[in-house]
Amino acid sequence: MAFSHGYGKMLDEKYSIEAIRNAYEHGCTFFDTAEVYSLNLAGIGHNELIVGKALKEVRENVVIATKLMPRGMSILGGSMYKKVKEHLMASLDRLQTDYVDIYYLHRTNGVSVEKVAEAMGRLIDEGLIRGWGMSQVDVDVIDRAQKITPLTAIQNIYSMVERDSESEIIPYCMENDIGFVPFSPIASGLLSGKITTETKFEKNDDVRNWVPQLSRSNIAGNQPIVEMLKEFAEKKNATPAQISLAWMIHKYPNVVPIPGSKNKERIIENLDASKVELTEEEFGTLEDSLNGLTVYGHRGLGGF
Ligand SMILES: NC(=O)c1ccc[n+]([C@@H]2O[C@H](COP(=O)([O-])OP(=O)(O)OC[C@H]3O[C@@H](n4cnc5c(N)ncnc54)[C@H](OP(=O)(O)O)[C@@H]3O)[C@@H](O)[C@H]2O)c1
Repeated sequence: MAFSHGYGKMLDEKYSIEAIRNAYEHGCTFFDTAEVYSLNLAGIGHNELIVGKALKEVRENVVIATKLMPRGMSILGGSMYKKVKEHLMASLDRLQTDYVDIYYLHRTNGVSVEKVAEAMGRLIDEGLIRGWGMSQVDVDVIDRAQKITPLTAIQNIYSMVERDSESEIIPYCMENDIGFVPFSPIASGLLSGKITTETKFEKNDDVRNWVPQLSRSNIAGNQPIVEMLKEFAEKKNATPAQISLAWMIHKYPNVVPIPGSKNKERIIENLDASKVELTEEEFGTLEDSLNGLTVYGHRGLGGF
C-alpha cells in the first residue's frame, strides 16, 4: 500500500517494483493491495498496477489479495454481481492476471453483505477469484456473510495496541476455518521503536498524522510498551518490529500479518520475523507485560 498511498510521497516505480520482487526472492508469497491505493485515494489502481508489473512473471507462485471499495453501490439499482464483477475485471486488468486469490470487500459502506457474499460465490464458481474476504467487520457481519458463501479471510486492524479482534472475531474465524489477516500490525511504525515525539510525518497523504497512538502525547504515553519490546527484542537478538509480528504468529494458528513498508531492507526484516520463534515462557512474559501496560489511543474497527 505504502508505495502508492498512506505514508507520504510515492517512491519511483522502479524502486517499488524492485522492492516487491526482492521480497518475493526472499520468500514472500503473500501480497496485499486494493483498487483504492493511490495518492490521497484520488485515482484508482496505482498500487495494483505496480503489483501486477512486479509479479506477472511469478504469478503462479504467489497469493495476491485485492479489495473492492463499494462506493455508491448501495444506492444505484442493478445487480450486485454485475457491479462487483465490473470492479474485479478492472483489478484483474491492472494486476495482469486472470484471477485473484482473495477478493475482499474493503468496507461494507452500507451495502448488503448477503448480496455481496452471493456475488462472490458466483465469481468463485467462475474461477475469477479463489476465495473472498471482508475488512473492518464485526462478528455479526462476518456470520451473516459466512452463511451465504464461506469466507477465506478477514482483514481487520490488529496489533499489540489494537486488540479488539481477540475477544470474538479471531475465535470465530478459528472455529470456522477462516484466516485472520491483521493490517497495520506494527501500529503504523510505533512498535518498531523508531518513532519518537520528535518524528515528523509527511504533510500529504500520511495516515500517521491521525493514527491515534501516534499523536505526540500518545507516543509519549506508549513509551513503556515500546521500551518493553526493545528490551525483549534485544534479548532475542531480534528487532521490536519482528517481536510484535512473532507474538501474533505464535498466538494464533490462523493469523497471517501483512506488515507494510516502502523500504527494501525493512520489508526483509519484517519477513524474517517468521524465523523468530518464541517459547511458551517467552510468549507468556510478553502477554503478561502487555496486559499490565496501558495503551494510549485506539483506532478500532470504525476508522478508515
Ligand atoms: N484493510 C484495510 O483497511 C487496510 C488499512 C491499512 C493497511 N492495510 C494493509 O496492511 C498493510 C500494512 O499496514 P500499514 O502499512 O498501515 O501498517 P504497519 O505495517 O503497521 O506499519 C507501516 C509503517 O511502519 C513502518 N515500518 C514497518 N516496518 C518497520 C520496521 N521494521 N522498522 C521501522 N519501521 C517500520 C513503515 O515505514 P517504512 O515504509 O519507512 O518502512 C510504515 O511507516 C498495508 O500495506 C496494506 O496492504 C489494509
